[in-house]
Amino acid sequence: MKTLTLLLSTATILSLMTDILAQPNVARVLIYSATRDFRHDSIPTAVDALVAHGPTANITFDHTEDETWFTDDRLQQYDGIVFLSNTGEVLNEAEKAAFQRWLDLGGNLIGIHSASDCLRNTTFFQHELGAAFDYHPELQNATVDVIGPSHPSTSMLPKEWAVRDEMYNFKSDPRSVGAVVILSANESSYTDPGPRKFDQGTPHPTAWFQEHGAGVDSNGTAGRSFYTSLGHLNETWQDDLFMAHVMGGITWALQSNTTLAFNSSGKVGNGTTANASSSSASTTASGTGTGSVSSTSPTAGGSSAAPPPLLSARALSAIGGFVLAISLWTLL
Ligand SMILES: *[C@@H]1O[C@H](CO)[C@@H](O)[C@H](O)[C@H]1NC(C)=O
Ligand SMILES: *[C@@H]1O[C@H](CO)[C@@H](O)[C@H](O)[C@H]1NC(C)=O
Ligand SMILES: *[C@@H]1O[C@H](CO)[C@@H](O)[C@H](O)[C@H]1NC(C)=O
Ligand SMILES: *[C@@H]1O[C@H](CO)[C@@H](O)[C@H](O)[C@H]1NC(C)=O
Ligand SMILES: *[C@@H]1O[C@H](CO)[C@@H](O)[C@H](O)[C@H]1NC(C)=O
Ligand SMILES: *[C@@H]1O[C@H](CO)[C@@H](O)[C@H](O)[C@H]1NC(C)=O
Ligand SMILES: *[C@@H]1O[C@H](CO)[C@@H](O)[C@H](O)[C@H]1NC(C)=O
Ligand SMILES: *[C@@H]1O[C@H](CO)[C@@H](O)[C@H](O)[C@H]1NC(C)=O
Ligand SMILES: *[C@@H]1O[C@H](CO)[C@@H](O)[C@H](O)[C@H]1NC(C)=O
Ligand SMILES: *[C@@H]1O[C@H](CO)[C@@H](O)[C@H](O)[C@H]1NC(C)=O
Repeated sequence: MKTLTLLLSTATILSLMTDILAQPNVARVLIYSATRDFRHDSIPTAVDALVAHGPTANITFDHTEDETWFTDDRLQQYDGIVFLSNTGEVLNEAEKAAFQRWLDLGGNLIGIHSASDCLRNTTFFQHELGAAFDYHPELQNATVDVIGPSHPSTSMLPKEWAVRDEMYNFKSDPRSVGAVVILSANESSYTDPGPRKFDQGTPHPTAWFQEHGAGVDSNGTAGRSFYTSLGHLNETWQDDLFMAHVMGGITWALQSNTTLAFNSSGKVGNGTTANASSSSASTTASGTGTGSVSSTSPTAGGSSAAPPPLLSARALSAIGGFVLAISLWTLL
């Protein structure tokens, strides 16, 4: 009898453990592309491209332009937030506060293109992103130099990368808040009539990362931050090399391990019970789910997010099975 129970228990434990081990860590990431000033017409193309790349990166993307999603409850389920080509005041004071609390709990930020041109007077956001946009010369061909080749967002790029994009100038040097610059615009490869009024440091910053996002309070858990100023054109978002750059940056940011997808002590991220599904989503569905091709509208798009399956439920059932098996074994 004891032997039989032991065998059964072992089988149960093994099957539960296999189940857990086979389960990839699926991180949940919100793409936020609201704009209040200039609007890039590449936003729908960008959202589609990101959503399409989700499954291979083990990422579930949701997309919204609804600023009311920035509440504690709703943000709680996300491991990362992508600010995509935003402009202007895209969050009010209460929403900014919820966003900052989420950052303090270990959330990871990814900023793309004009994300550096939103929330222009919000210090924590500027620090978390790294620097604020100043101006750009006209769209043209240029080369950017890979100066940090070991980063997952640059390791696949040629040393001198030919791009057609806007070469941004910034109001400060992202290195001043601790960022590491990994892509640098070659200023001799394009025309910029200037004037450059601010010191953005040298070499010219184009993409960078922060191991610990500088917008987090000293009492908080700092996640990672990644920013690239590239991404203006539709064509860019259809370019495999650019997508590898962006997805490398997103994946790297999530590997901070400060959120639930990779850290069972995390306070935000996939695995939490979110009250998100109860909040009203006034926007139409667009690009949610691992892999579903999104039907994006160029204006507001949002997926009414279903509550995420519980990562912890899976772990709990395994632990429960283990405890049950052990107690049976010792009893008999
Ligand atoms: C996604 O998860 C699978 C299963 O755990 C793993 O083999 C694969 O390496 C993961 N992919 C990435 C990009 O993390
Ligand atoms: C949360 O993670 C679990 C397991 O890692 C995965 O099965 C699930 O699809 C994820 N949920 C979302 C919404 O990404
Ligand atoms: C970019 O793509 C969007 C649709 O995804 C389209 O509406 C827009 O006109 C395109 N822009 C250009 C310049 O072709
Ligand atoms: C979810 O909502 C309920 C009430 O509707 C509240 O008591 C609870 O604290 C909320 N949970 C989280 C995680 O915010
Ligand atoms: C930001 O600050 C500048 C300079 O103080 C001010 O002119 C501008 O109105 C502010 N913008 C917002 C949106 O608060
Ligand atoms: C700019 O680069 C594109 C490829 O990205 C190329 O097709 C085009 O001919 C180039 N234009 C100029 C003026 O060099
Ligand atoms: C910068 O661009 C100029 C002009 O295209 C080129 O001659 C030079 O080799 C480039 N330098 C670097 C470091 O890429
Ligand atoms: C962290 O400090 C900020 C002020 O910088 C405060 O508002 C917040 O409540 C503190 N958070 C915790 C968890 O103590
Ligand atoms: C996060 O966890 C992965 C897998 O265990 C590990 O390779 C990586 O170094 C960790 N990253 C950090 C920042 O701790
Ligand atoms: C896991 O999360 C906890 C709680 O936020 C944090 O204190 C810890 O540093 C995290 N672990 C890693 C490897 O980041």
